[in-house]
Amino acid sequence: MSTRPTLVVTRRIPAAVESRAQELFDTCLNPSDRAMDDAALAAAMREADALLPTVTDRITAELLGMSDRRVRIVANFGVGFNNIDVEAAKANGVVVTNTPGVLTDDTADLAITLLLMAARRTGEGERHVRTRQWTGWRPTHMLGARVTGKTLGLVGLGRIGGAVARRATHGFGMRVLFVDPYASDAQAAATGAERRASLEEVLGESDFVSLHCPATPETHHLLNAARLRAMRPHAFLINTARGDVVDEAALVDALRSGTIAGAGLDVFEREPHVHDALLGMENVVLLPHLGSATEETRVAMGDRALDNLVAFFSGGSPGDRVA
Ligand code: 8YV
Repeated sequence: MSTRPTLVVTRRIPAAVESRAQELFDTCLNPSDRAMDDAALAAAMREADALLPTVTDRITAELLGMSDRRVRIVANFGVGFNNIDVEAAKANGVVVTNTPGVLTDDTADLAITLLLMAARRTGEGERHVRTRQWTGWRPTHMLGARVTGKTLGLVGLGRIGGAVARRATHGFGMRVLFVDPYASDAQAAATGAERRASLEEVLGESDFVSLHCPATPETHHLLNAARLRAMRPHAFLINTARGDVVDEAALVDALRSGTIAGAGLDVFEREPHVHDALLGMENVVLLPHLGSATEETRVAMGDRALDNLVAFFSGGSPGDRVA
């Protein structure tokens, strides 16, 4: 690279990656770590050559269509890129990249964590201990649901869905079903998961349902009231994908009425807001979007985003281009 392009990184990222960004580019970091508002994002679009945003930044058609925009590439920190208006990026000739692959295992681990926590009532149990409500062991205390040998239904058998399938099959002897119009038979064979033609079939046969599809207009409120009713009453819903794949109000109703037994949620419709009713429910495990939150993965995500920027500014095609 002959001249150093300018880069705005919208949030704090691991120190090693911030240092590498500063070595590679004329980098503006965000030491406050507060989410940038629309005006700050507009200023970044106007002043920098590249933007490295996260899930908390909405890169809208307005920002991408600014007549005085200078940014030519948006290198998202994350595999999901529903925070970016990709169609508007394409229309305005802005390149968009994401960070696939590097967060697969940690996100799959978290899906299994939520599944186990929900089934075995561990959040509730921990609250009992911490609030000194635990009065001692007894045979009928806090009985949960067995995981081993049960049926897990996956909505989406991409990288993360496949990693969850392997953990469920090999770790817990589960039978794994999936629905995914984009997954090949080879992908299915590699995980041992059984294909079902419809979402309804997966919902009706599963003891646990875990979501691993991207947030798109097609998957918005995919799990609505009717689909929640298609689940079995003893079943649990696990969501580490995106909040708006589930109609959160319908989920609250389903949990209240016993339509399903429980849920494990790492993502929400209006993060960081969580539906008030969920906060009071014991049969729900709530985590603050921790899917990829390990030191190793967050460094790898940052490096991957920087690799995409280096490829772009060296005149090549970034490996993870989505627009
Ligand atoms: C991140 C994620 O925490 O990659 C994704 O799609 O949801 C998470 O890994 C988040 O997107 C960071 O921007």
